[in-house]
Amino acid sequence: MSADQGPFIFTAMGVRIGILTGGGDCPGLNAVIRAVVRRAALEQNQVLGIRNGWRGLIEGDIHPLTRDSVVGILPRGGTILGTSRVNPENDAPTLERIHTHWKEFDLHALIVVGGEGTLRAARDMWRDHEYPVVGIPKTIDNDLCGTDFTFGFDTAVGVVTDAIDRLHSTAESHHRVMVVEVMGRHSGWIAAYGGIAGGADVVLVPEHPFRLSRVCQLLRHREEEGRAFSIVVVAEDAKPHVDEDFLSGETHAQIYRHDRLGGIGNFLALEIERSTGLETRVTTLGYVQRGGSPTAFDRVLATRFGVHGCEMVMNSEWGRMASLRGDKIVSVPLDDAVNNIKLLDEDIYRVAEIFFG
Ligand code: F6P
Repeated sequence: MSADQGPFIFTAMGVRIGILTGGGDCPGLNAVIRAVVRRAALEQNQVLGIRNGWRGLIEGDIHPLTRDSVVGILPRGGTILGTSRVNPENDAPTLERIHTHWKEFDLHALIVVGGEGTLRAARDMWRDHEYPVVGIPKTIDNDLCGTDFTFGFDTAVGVVTDAIDRLHSTAESHHRVMVVEVMGRHSGWIAAYGGIAGGADVVLVPEHPFRLSRVCQLLRHREEEGRAFSIVVVAEDAKPHVDEDFLSGETHAQIYRHDRLGGIGNFLALEIERSTGLETRVTTLGYVQRGGSPTAFDRVLATRFGVHGCEMVMNSEWGRMASLRGDKIVSVPLDDAVNNIKLLDEDIYRVAEIFFG
């Protein structure tokens, strides 16, 4: 790569920057795309949109993005570029295709907007093949290391909070337990923040395997005290403690699949009803958490990341990622982001726990 493309130090105008969005979609992706295009245009640099994540680079599905292409997209959910979970295989034919399209479209740099998997591929393309790559972190799960927050998370938490608010009134009217299953992959960020914001009575997260006996005790206690309804938030990867596992091996395999989690809420609700006799219902929020318009916080964060990502290209900060540290946007090595996932902060869990029961 480097021989074809030179030393990748751009102080001049006329740089051609590719941008792709990979992995699960997330509110704020369009805000990033818009910010990159607008920031690049200030220096007469050109942005090319790569469709459907890494797949577009492999297949050569690449199109210029102009100021007109990004008009009106700031408040829109999803991504105008499309996305996929395809990451480049590290084999000669795939690398050859990427190389061919890189040259054909005369790309000088690539901005990769993604979560852990997409950014790991970006890190590998820089580390192993010297592609001049810059990362921007996104995911509703907020489980990426190297940044305090990812955009999309605030919107997802807002959806969960709104749902819990609504579930309160129906749960109260019917004197029911409401189990609310939320996303978050292997971390409990969405569950804990949504649970705190919505005033949940129990929050179950992957970081703390739960005991059904304790959950039921809390719910019974609420009933005894005259609180005739309860809200239980359960993260999609929350698991029963091994000492009190009520799921069969087959059910485990069905709920905790590597590529797709979901279903713990239904099994938990059955067990709660069976153990306590309290009428219990389930709401699985699913993809509603990922869709729709980003909150103002996510629009601003995504816009700041986009501007910073573009400036990282201009400063040749390859193999690095835009990151939020405190209230500042900085850049960190992509390695920091992709080697581990960021589990829920224990301090946040402790706050949620104070309101259990
Ligand atoms: O990473 C975002 C996320 O929505 C997770 O919370 C969820 O487990 C997963 O993506 C669902 O992925 P898919 O879109 O492949 O079903």
